[in-house]
Amino acid sequence: MLTSHKLDSHTILYGVFGDPIRHSKSPIMLNRAFEVTGVNAAYGAFHIVPGTLKDAVAGIRALQFRGVNVTVPHKVEVMEYLDAIDEGARMIGAVNTIVNDNGKLTGYNTDGIGYIRSLKEETGIDLRGRKVLMIGAGGAARGVGYAIAKEGAAHIYIANRTKEKAQELAASMSEFSSVSGHGLDEVAALAGEAALIVNNTSLGMHPNVDDVPMDVSLIRPDTVVSDLIYNPLLTRFLREARDQRGAAIHSGLGMFIYQGAYAFEYWTGQPAPIEAMRAVVLESFE
Ligand code: ATR
Repeated sequence: MLTSHKLDSHTILYGVFGDPIRHSKSPIMLNRAFEVTGVNAAYGAFHIVPGTLKDAVAGIRALQFRGVNVTVPHKVEVMEYLDAIDEGARMIGAVNTIVNDNGKLTGYNTDGIGYIRSLKEETGIDLRGRKVLMIGAGGAARGVGYAIAKEGAAHIYIANRTKEKAQELAASMSEFSSVSGHGLDEVAALAGEAALIVNNTSLGMHPNVDDVPMDVSLIRPDTVVSDLIYNPLLTRFLREARDQRGAAIHSGLGMFIYQGAYAFEYWTGQPAPIEAMRAVVLESFE
């Protein structure tokens, strides 16, 4: 066991802004990362209620925080209060990571790149020229959708309960990829074509662990099946895709770890201690 790291008058501050926030695993993950790399820093969870985000961002400058993660529901609004937005975050239309360079705040989005890095490391899939089925068209789907488009997928099908939202997201991505929006009733016709199926909905998330986003019997064994959910660590959807269909699976934990790892790297300029970060998050589920 490592000794807990010491906080003093040189400690650099970091945190995550969200509402709700008490469930967040970012503080344990990033504090462990600082501890094992010997960075004198502390990372807190800040409950920022709607209407106070502008003041909270001013606080980053005033208190000279080096960096902040931004989560639901603030990822879009926060862009109004920053000095610069990285190209990837602008494309996605959402920021999850802020870097403070002597009072200049720049917004990044590490969700999509974190997703792709964990997907490749865990499954080895190469999306170039392949078709992808994304289920869900909310905030989480945006970041992942753009990242998949940038990987050179041949076509992205977006299927959503509210078909109009799938079509809107598809339209906003059309300059980056061949993409189309569909209703959930079309999943049966599309699933067989996809090399990768991704659940971007909240179906199956704790406490509704019995929900699944689609009929698992439609999945071919050579499909990679991915879920952005990491609580539970293995959703019913992934478990059945693996056990009943023989599919390779990828859970949301990897995306969570790597979005945090990219943030750590932007803030500190050092490689993130991925395995220590993964271990402490896994311990927190026990
Ligand atoms: P997030 O930021 O986590 O993506 P969100 O923007 O609220 O959250 O998006 C939630 C996604 O889950 C949406 O695609 C939503 O479908 P709708 O656009 O039709 O609302 C989907 N979703 C949530 N509950 C669902 C349910 N019971 N059945 C089908 N889809 C559901």
